[in-house]
Amino acid sequence: MFDFRPDPAQPKPETYRQLCDAADALTAGERDAVANMANVAALMWEFLPELNWAGFYRMDRSVSGGELVLGPFAGRPACIRIPLGKGVCGAAAATGESQLVEDVHAFPGHIACDAASRSELVVPVIRDGDVVAVIDLDSPALARFDVEDRAGIEALAALLSSRI
Ligand code: SME
Repeated sequence: MFDFRPDPAQPKPETYRQLCDAADALTAGERDAVANMANVAALMWEFLPELNWAGFYRMDRSVSGGELVLGPFAGRPACIRIPLGKGVCGAAAATGESQLVEDVHAFPGHIACDAASRSELVVPVIRDGDVVAVIDLDSPALARFDVEDRAGIEALAALLSSRI
């Protein structure tokens, strides 16, 4: 039904433009946040090479001070809850700033859900000034992510702000 085939040789910004267009098309008419996150996790998995995890952690404000809880993803089963400020995801959620980590072993407090992970990109999804979720990408390759990946996922996060 949906068949996305990004050209592996094309420049990264073009891949992210196509990914955002596909995410826009899939989420525009749907108001269920879980359905939208599930489809976007699947899209990231299809569009982006060299990943071993792609998905969402959502902000759970029912916990005092807030806490991240696992959302829709593609990849291996993962840690369920992450306190704010802990690990790469918790740092992104606590600061509201993207975290681009070339070597997770060098990141203080990195949470190893999968020992195979070597690099990571986490981008907060912000709505009305609050972090409502983070997008997390993991790779078994060292320094898999660069500033073009960060810009692409930040554009995706902005698109999803009102849809998840
Ligand atoms: N490595 C992350 C935890 C989430 S998993 O990678 C899916 C972190 O340090 O926050």
